[in-house]
Amino acid sequence: MQLELENKTVLVTGASRGIGRDIAAAFAGAGALVYSGCRSKESFDELAAANLNPVMLDVTSQPDFAGVIQSIVQKHGRLDVLVNNAGVASNTPASSLKPEEVDRLIDTNFKGVFYGMQAYYKAQRKSGGIIVNVASILGLVGTPLASVYCGTKGAVVQMTRALAVEWANSGFRVNAVAPGFIDTDMTEVMKKRDSILTAVLNNIPVKRMGTPRDIAGPVLFLASSLADYMTGHILVVDGGLTAQ
Ligand code: NAI
Repeated sequence: MQLELENKTVLVTGASRGIGRDIAAAFAGAGALVYSGCRSKESFDELAAANLNPVMLDVTSQPDFAGVIQSIVQKHGRLDVLVNNAGVASNTPASSLKPEEVDRLIDTNFKGVFYGMQAYYKAQRKSGGIIVNVASILGLVGTPLASVYCGTKGAVVQMTRALAVEWANSGFRVNAVAPGFIDTDMTEVMKKRDSILTAVLNNIPVKRMGTPRDIAGPVLFLASSLADYMTGHILVVDGGLTAQ
């Protein structure tokens, strides 16, 4: 059995670093033609140097997202896989969250994922497609200091299920991964505080944080023909954290 991702066209959002970067590199390693979404010239140049085909894309701009998808479809005939990875977090008590921060979380994590999926569906409603969203275990369980982040990731989980059902007849598979604690810039704040890091690690059955590579594998699996009969699934990748 093979992944069968050779020559597939793939768009990964938020691919300049962290989980998205490893997802893009893993698709390229599997022979796919990957487009790596990024937002700065520095990231663009860096991704170009790594042969990861950069494309400027801020997911909070619905017209830009639709434009990027349309241009890939025009160029290659189709976009085989969309990976909605871009996301932002916050580490703030609910009582102190400012409206700008709430908007930033919702615009990126919730609307950014929805408008990406909508644009992809509109571009390929006749031929179908494969969507893999990067949700979070915090879309499934609660934790302090992450109220709106948890809300947006819960929304990603539910949009994944709802659109898997709504678009199944159009040949779309829509799945998500739900990572646990992964070693990226997003978890830097937590890693800087020894007491918090120790408590988190003690609570993870495999006793380590995940790496971006730990997430890339399951994303490729969901995007591959090995997962042809899977849709509406939330694949938890958390070292056993939420199995307890
Ligand atoms: P990161 O902070 O290293 O990377 C986030 C990426 O998203 C960056 O490339 C950033 O430029 C991009 N991004 C942010 N806003 C964007 C926008 N408006 N448009 C386009 N790109 C944008 O974080 P990490 O950890 O790699 O996160 C990737 C995804 O994984 C996020 O959706 C995050 O919520 C999710 N996740 C991360 C976990 C972790 O422990 N690191 C756990 C569970 C989920």
